[in-house]
Amino acid sequence: MSVASHFDAMSYGPAPEGDAEARAWLARHADGFGHFIGGAFVGAASGESFETFEPATGRLLARLAKGSAADVEAAAQAAREAQGPWSQLSGHARARHLYALARLIQRHARLIAVVEALDNGKPIRETRDIDVPLAARHFYHHAGWAQIQEREFPGWQPVGVVGQIIPWNFPFLMLAWKVAPALALGNTVVLKPAEFTSLTALLFAELAVAAGLPAGVLNIVTGEGDTGALIVEHAGIDKIAFTGSTKVGRLIREKTAGSGKSLTLELGGKSPFIVFDDADIDAAIEGVVDAIWFNQGQVCCAGSRLLLQEGIADKFLARLKRRMDTLRVGHSLDKCIDMAAIVAPVQLQRIEKLVAAGVAEGATLYQAAIDLPEGGCFMRPTLLTDVQPAATVAREEIFGPVVVSMTFRTPDEAVMLANNSRYGLAASVWSETIGLALDVAAKVQAGVVWVNATNLFDAGTGFGGYRESGYGREGGREGVLEYLKPKAWATRQPRPATAEPPQREAANGFSLPSLDRTAKLFIGGKQARPDGNYSRLITSPDGRVLGEVGEGNRKDIRNAVEAARKAEGWSKASAHNRAQVLYYLAENLSARAGEFAGRIAAMTGATIEAAEAEVAASISRLFSAAADADKYEGRIHTPPLRGLALAVHEPIGVVGLICPPEAPLLAFISLIAPLLACGNRVVVVPSEPHPLSATDFYQVLETSDVPAGAVNIVTGPAWELVKTLAEHDDVDALWVFGQKELSAMAERLSTGNLKRTLTDNGFMTDWHDIASCEGEILLRHAVQVKNVWIPYGE
Ligand code: NAI
Ligand code: MG
Repeated sequence: MSVASHFDAMSYGPAPEGDAEARAWLARHADGFGHFIGGAFVGAASGESFETFEPATGRLLARLAKGSAADVEAAAQAAREAQGPWSQLSGHARARHLYALARLIQRHARLIAVVEALDNGKPIRETRDIDVPLAARHFYHHAGWAQIQEREFPGWQPVGVVGQIIPWNFPFLMLAWKVAPALALGNTVVLKPAEFTSLTALLFAELAVAAGLPAGVLNIVTGEGDTGALIVEHAGIDKIAFTGSTKVGRLIREKTAGSGKSLTLELGGKSPFIVFDDADIDAAIEGVVDAIWFNQGQVCCAGSRLLLQEGIADKFLARLKRRMDTLRVGHSLDKCIDMAAIVAPVQLQRIEKLVAAGVAEGATLYQAAIDLPEGGCFMRPTLLTDVQPAATVAREEIFGPVVVSMTFRTPDEAVMLANNSRYGLAASVWSETIGLALDVAAKVQAGVVWVNATNLFDAGTGFGGYRESGYGREGGREGVLEYLKPKAWATRQPRPATAEPPQREAANGFSLPSLDRTAKLFIGGKQARPDGNYSRLITSPDGRVLGEVGEGNRKDIRNAVEAARKAEGWSKASAHNRAQVLYYLAENLSARAGEFAGRIAAMTGATIEAAEAEVAASISRLFSAAADADKYEGRIHTPPLRGLALAVHEPIGVVGLICPPEAPLLAFISLIAPLLACGNRVVVVPSEPHPLSATDFYQVLETSDVPAGAVNIVTGPAWELVKTLAEHDDVDALWVFGQKELSAMAERLSTGNLKRTLTDNGFMTDWHDIASCEGEILLRHAVQVKNVWIPYGE
C-alpha cells in the first residue's frame, strides 16, 4: 500500500505497547507466586496452586498460591501483630508511607499498566490512563487523611484488622480504593485479589517492600471464593470490605451476622443512562460509549440501561449503531482499540446467555458490524432495543458490553423507570436544561449521579450504592469513616442478660375487656388497636401493675411500615421545617417533664432525681437533633476536572428501630431524633420491659406537628418484631439496640433487600454521654451520601 492510500483510508494499524518488562517480571516468577504475609513472600501452606491466564490470547500467565485456612491464619496473625505499632505511628509517619507508595506506583506505572492489561484483558489505554493514575491518586489523597487524622477525627480510632476482598474488573484500582484508606487511618490489611487477576496485587506487594512498609501491615492471600470465605469467617478480623457480586455480598452479610465485624459492601448495579430530548446528542452518544463499552462493560456502575426520551429515540439509536460500527475490538496491548477481551471464558458465556435470554424475551439485537481478533475472549459491542422493563436483561446485571434501551415520555416517567431496579449504584442524566437535570439527579435513587457525563471517579469523592448495590462508601470523608470506629463506643460493656424477663406469660391470651386503658399502638398518626388484640401487663420492679400495652405482631409492623412508606412528605420537608418540629417536641415534652419523670421512676425503680435527669437529657437531645437537622450537611468537592461534585446527605427512607431495655425515654429519643432530623421515617419498637415512656409520648407527638406516619410505634416482643422488620423489603435500614441475639438476628435476616444495619451487638451505650450518642456517631448512619457530579459546560 502506498502512503497515499493509507492517507485515504485513514485506518488504524496495530500499535502494540511493549511487554518486555512485564514478561521479564513474569519470567522471574516462573516457579509461581506465593502469598505476601508478614512482609515476605511465602508458599501456600498446602502446596496447592491455581493458574491465571491472559484473556486476549488464552495463554497461561502465571501460577499462584491457593490460600488455605493456615495461610489466612498466618496473614491475620501478622496483621494483628502489626496493627498496634502501625496505629501508634504518628499520622505524619503513616502519611509518609502512603506517599512513598504513591510515588512508587507512579515510577512503575507502565509496568503495572501492562501487567494489568495482560492479566485482565482490558485495554492498555485504560490501565495506563485511568486505573493506574487513579490508584496513585488514592494513595496521595489518603496520605493526606493520615496526616490530619488526629486533627480531623479526634473521637475516632482505627477499626483494627481489615479483610478486603476485591473483584477482577479493576484489580489494581480496587486494591488502591481499599488499601489506601485502611492503612492511612491505622488499620492493617489481609487482602484477597480476585482469582482471575491477582498479579498486580503481588506486584504492589513488591513495591510495598521496596517502599519500606512495615512487615504485616499489608498481607495478600491469593485464592478463589473459598479463600475469601475463610477471611470472612476469621475471628481475628474486625471488618470486611467487599466489592463484587450482590450474590456473594449477601452471603458475606449472612456469615458475618452477629460477629461484631463491621461490613461495607460495594455490589452490582443496573445503572440508568437517561437522555432527554434537549441533550447534546453527540456528547450523549460518546457518553454511552464510555458508559457501557469502557472496560468491556465489566463495570459495576456501567450505564447499562439506556433510557431515551421518545422524540429522539429513533434518531439516537440510529446514530448509536453507526458509532458502534466504528469501535475497535483488539488485543489488550494495542493502544488503538476501544475494547479488548472479556476477563474469562466463563464470563463471556454468562454474558452471551443473558443476551440470548433477552432476545428470547422479545428484544431486538444489534451487534457492531466489526471484526473480532482471532482466539481470545472477545465480544462485539451489543445493543438490545425493544426491551420491556420487566425483561431479564432490563433487571439483571449483565456485566458485559451490552446496553439495553427503553423509552420514556416525561421526566416523571424517566425517574420511575430509572428507579425501577433493585440496584442503586449510579445514574447518568443528559439534558442541556440544568434545572431538569438536577431535579432528576435529586429524584434518582443512586449513590452517584453524573450530569452530562459518566464514569467519573476521584479519591476525594465518595462512591457507593443505595439499596441492593450495597452500603458504605469508598473515597471522600465518608469513605474515611468506614475505616474508623468511635472511641466513645470502645469502652461499652456487654449488656447484662435481660434484667426482667418479659411479662408475656402474664399477658398471653389476655383479651381486652378494658381496652381503653391499654396503651394502643401508634401508626400513621393515630392510635391503633393491636391486630392480635392481646396486651401485656407492665409492672414496676417491685411487681406493681403500672398499665398495659398492646402486644404488636407482624401485621402491626407491616401496617406501620406502610404508613411510614406513605409519609414521604417528611423526607421532602425542609431541614428548617424538621428542626421546628423537633424543637416543638422538646417544648411539649418539657411541659410534661414531671409526669414523664414519675413514669420512668415507677417503671425502672430509678430515683426521681435520676428520672428527672433522664427527661432533661431527652429534651436537650431533641434540641441537638433540631440543631443538626440543618447543620449535618453535605459537602462540595472539587475533583480534578472543571466542575463540582456535590456530596448530598439524603435520608435513607424508612428505618426500623429496636430500642434497648435501659433508659426507656432517653434511648428512645436519642435514636429517633437523629433519624427524624435527617428526614427518615421510623417504625419504633420501644423498650420491651419499660414501654410506657414511649406510649405516653403519643400525645407529645400528636401535639407537635409531626406528620402522620413519620413516627410509628409498635410495642411488643422485640425478638419477634425485629424479625419482621429485618425481613421487610420496604424497610431501608434497621437500627437494633438490645440483647446481642437481636443484633445477630437483624443482620442475618437483612439480606433480602440488603438493608443497612446499625447494631450495638449487645453492648450498652451510655445514653447520658453526649460523645456516645450525639453528632456524627449516629448521624452518619441516618443518611446516605449521594454524589452528584456536575462538570461545567462550555
Ligand atoms: P464474585 O462476587 O464471586 O467475586 C468477587 C470476589 O469475591 C472475588 O475475589 C472472589 O474470589 C470472592 N468470593 C467469591 N465467593 C466468595 C465467598 N463465598 N466469600 C468470600 N469471597 C468470595 O464475582 P464473580 O464470580 O467473579 O463474577 C460474577 C458476577 O458478579 C459478574 O458477572 C458480575 O455480574 C458480578 N460482579 C460484580 C462486580 C462489581 O464490581 N459490582 C465485580 C465482579 C463481579
Ligand atoms: Mg487473568
